[in-house]
Amino acid sequence: MKGLILSGGKGTRLRPITHTAAKQLVPVANKPILFYAIEAMRDAGIREIGIIIGDTGPEVRAAVGDGSAWGVAITYLPQEAPLGLAHAVKISEEFMAGEPFVMYLGDNLIRGGITSFVDEFEASKPDSLILLAKVPNPNQFGVAVLNAEGRVVTLEEKPKEPKSDLALVGVYLFTETIFKAVNAIKPSPRGELEITDAIQWLITEGYRVNPHLVTGWWKDTGKLSDMLEANRIMLDDIKDSVIEGELIGDCEIQGRVVIAKGARLSNCIVRGPAIIGENCKLTNTYVGPYTAINRDVTIANAEIEHSIILEGSSILNINGRITDSLLGKNVEVTRGEIKPKAYRLMLGDNSQFSIV
Ligand code: TTP
Repeated sequence: MKGLILSGGKGTRLRPITHTAAKQLVPVANKPILFYAIEAMRDAGIREIGIIIGDTGPEVRAAVGDGSAWGVAITYLPQEAPLGLAHAVKISEEFMAGEPFVMYLGDNLIRGGITSFVDEFEASKPDSLILLAKVPNPNQFGVAVLNAEGRVVTLEEKPKEPKSDLALVGVYLFTETIFKAVNAIKPSPRGELEITDAIQWLITEGYRVNPHLVTGWWKDTGKLSDMLEANRIMLDDIKDSVIEGELIGDCEIQGRVVIAKGARLSNCIVRGPAIIGENCKLTNTYVGPYTAINRDVTIANAEIEHSIILEGSSILNINGRITDSLLGKNVEVTRGEIKPKAYRLMLGDNSQFSIV
């Protein structure tokens, strides 16, 4: 069994972060989302993984390397443009070399991994196993309709009037028959080769497509609110506090908190679940629940909660609270001394700044 992780795409819903960085490398609980997918595959016994890359390929390659950090072998599969999930499958045909495989969307998170799905697929040997989850907004997903016997009858991509509330989760298991399908279908009106069309082709041609209902937590992390939710769920998995950094002066650590080595906190209150990365410098700062602060971040005289702060950023003297926020790499947020008092901003294209 091999693995295919999709880490190309445009990431329009997460601009401006994705103007300069790969969406799949945004950290959740200080670990890039993509790494959770690699770990889930490794834990399921998969050792050979192909990663689809696009414009952000160099960054993905630099972060993941040859896979030896996880004990897996990574092969990069460049996609000339984000031409659809089924197109990504199409260009992996040579790499798969006839083996069955798990396809995992690199921006999806599934709590509890994929081992049980891989086991089920290997035991029941269908042509494809698709994972489905009940969602309140099926019109934003690929949607499956099952018949009375629980068999998949139709699949539709983002239907205006969904016939069920069962969305396709971003993990699919295929045998080599999927290559017949992706080579037979045509691009959809939005110009993409749709995986739903490919799976529908399998059903129409009489191949066996088994559904599996996912009951655990799963997230397709397209937007900021999804990232924050994923961060919350993963921070909740912190079992015990681990304080490797230095606490100076009057510090109060409440709940489950991870403070990495090289971090220095002086006169700070940290209320978990929260994680503070290597070499951070925090002074007179309150860090509230569900906050993940990446490495080399400096914060002084500020409050922050329910947020993700990427590496190298600084938040200085704002005398206020930052909440529900995602700050990219090397972002500076400061309060200056010069009058008149005003907001001075340099925000990239598609940035969001709100005063609440
Ligand atoms: P999407 O989230 O459907 O697309 P996107 O990343 O372009 O995001 P947005 O809708 O915000 O513009 O893609 C799911 C995953 O698959 C994601 O990790 C990107 C990846 N992908 C590819 O690698 N190649 C492709 O052709 C497409 C469409 C997506």
